Amino acid sequence: MTQESPVVLVAGSANVDFVVRAPHIPAPGETVLGGAFQTFAGGKGANQAVACARAGGVATHMLLALGEDAFAAPIEASLQSAGVTMHVRRPEGVATGSAFICVDDQAENAITVAPGANACLQDADLPALLGFSHLLMQLEIPLASVHAYALAAKASGLRVVLNAAPAQALPIDLLSAVDVLVVNEGELRTMAGMEGSVAECLARLPCPTVVVTLGARGCVARDGGTYVVQTGFAVQAVDTTGAGDTFCGALVAALAHAQPLTEAMRRASAAAALACTKMGAQSSVPTTQAVTDFLAQTSTHDDSHALADLRQYAGLT
Ligand code: RIB
Repeated sequence: MTQESPVVLVAGSANVDFVVRAPHIPAPGETVLGGAFQTFAGGKGANQAVACARAGGVATHMLLALGEDAFAAPIEASLQSAGVTMHVRRPEGVATGSAFICVDDQAENAITVAPGANACLQDADLPALLGFSHLLMQLEIPLASVHAYALAAKASGLRVVLNAAPAQALPIDLLSAVDVLVVNEGELRTMAGMEGSVAECLARLPCPTVVVTLGARGCVARDGGTYVVQTGFAVQAVDTTGAGDTFCGALVAALAHAQPLTEAMRRASAAAALACTKMGAQSSVPTTQAVTDFLAQTSTHDDSHALADLRQYAGLT
């Protein structure tokens, strides 16, 4: 592969998202009457691939698995319209992955995933890695495949970025192959295996760079021995689904462009904030122009109070 722009490979899940809004997310045993029912292209892997491609200047490829059913087409259409080059495995007799999502009036969600074809991605499905600069993965495909892809990518000189979502315990030699680990706060605590402060948990993880997203507060990274803090951007959130994925895709696109981590986290945070202002996952991922315009118009919480609050929340003061 000979291309001028950096080339990122995303290996991961693709789902059709079945979404209903409701006043609140039902508790166990409870039935809640919701509003209109919608479907969107989703899946953490595909969402991140779309976010990476829309961030601009990065050629984005995706390894995914789809069923031979009607749900595959809208996912392929979404990836194609974002400019993602697809490497598709189509296992016979298996449904496309699906996710059942309830979004409440505070824009928060609860998600149940039926993995379907995503569970069929195998070691042998990994395309040739020549020409790729970064491999971006999540944990909605078999852990054994994530593990094998990470080791192969590391051996081929790629930078490996893992969004450890949904969280699970990971083998140490997988974590050792990860250059940049991205987690939310709950995932951070699961991975660190402790209930300490964000800073204490970040220090427990062996990856060279660990980024934790903290919702509207912003995000914090431990990069080697130093910490990077980015406060959040205020938006009118309607649906937070896919915001974390947008962050990951935009972050990797910026890193593939050799932008410093501080700038990568700033753009990723802005993209994630914008993603919360629309319904759906891939449907809400902003273009790079939208992010640039937003950053030009919007004041961040980067005032001294918000920054001090975030540092204190993270246990950095
Ligand atoms: O992170 C959001 C995504 O999680 C949804 O699009 C859903 O498909 C699940 O994978």
